[in-house]
Amino acid sequence: MKKILMAGMMVVMALSAAAQVKKQAPAGTTASIARGKVLYKQICATCHQADATGVPRMNPPLIKTKYVLGDKTKLIKVLLLGLNEDVEIEGEYYSNPMPSQATLKDEEIADVLTFVRNSFGNKAPAITPGQVKAVRATIK
Ligand code: HEC
Repeated sequence: MKKILMAGMMVVMALSAAAQVKKQAPAGTTASIARGKVLYKQICATCHQADATGVPRMNPPLIKTKYVLGDKTKLIKVLLLGLNEDVEIEGEYYSNPMPSQATLKDEEIADVLTFVRNSFGNKAPAITPGQVKAVRATIK
């Protein structure tokens, strides 16, 4: 019953996020989200799952986490450098390493992160290729 309720809530959250994107997002952001969705399915869904709920104790969810909604520089760094910390999200620890996605272009990283930040119930400003480029320059 709890699961059904949760699933129902997720559907409602996803639908309202989609509706908000249609209403508020500027045209460039809508296109970026559409490209990011394709990349997410190709690259991220294997680990984080198509619905971003992750895999318990292995791959963390991407739903309203402090990384996804938080500081853009930190989030971009997760993709450029990968992550190998004991990530804690809502009392659950995830210790698999996340491989670096630095082979993706700046625009691809911007697109996939903008998609994630505006899907699965998340709502956060878009990430631009320029922002990815700037962070990449600090870690090379
Ligand atoms: C091989 C599996 C794998 C792939 C592919 C992968 N991740 Fe991860 N990701 C992980 C793991 C495992 C962690 C947690 C790392 C840790 O515990 O240090 C993580 C952590 C994260 C985090 C920070 C924690 C959180 O849940 O908010 C974000 C954001 C993230 N990944 C986004 C992405 C995006 C976007 C993609 C696709 C471009 C992606 N990941 C591809 C396995 C993966």
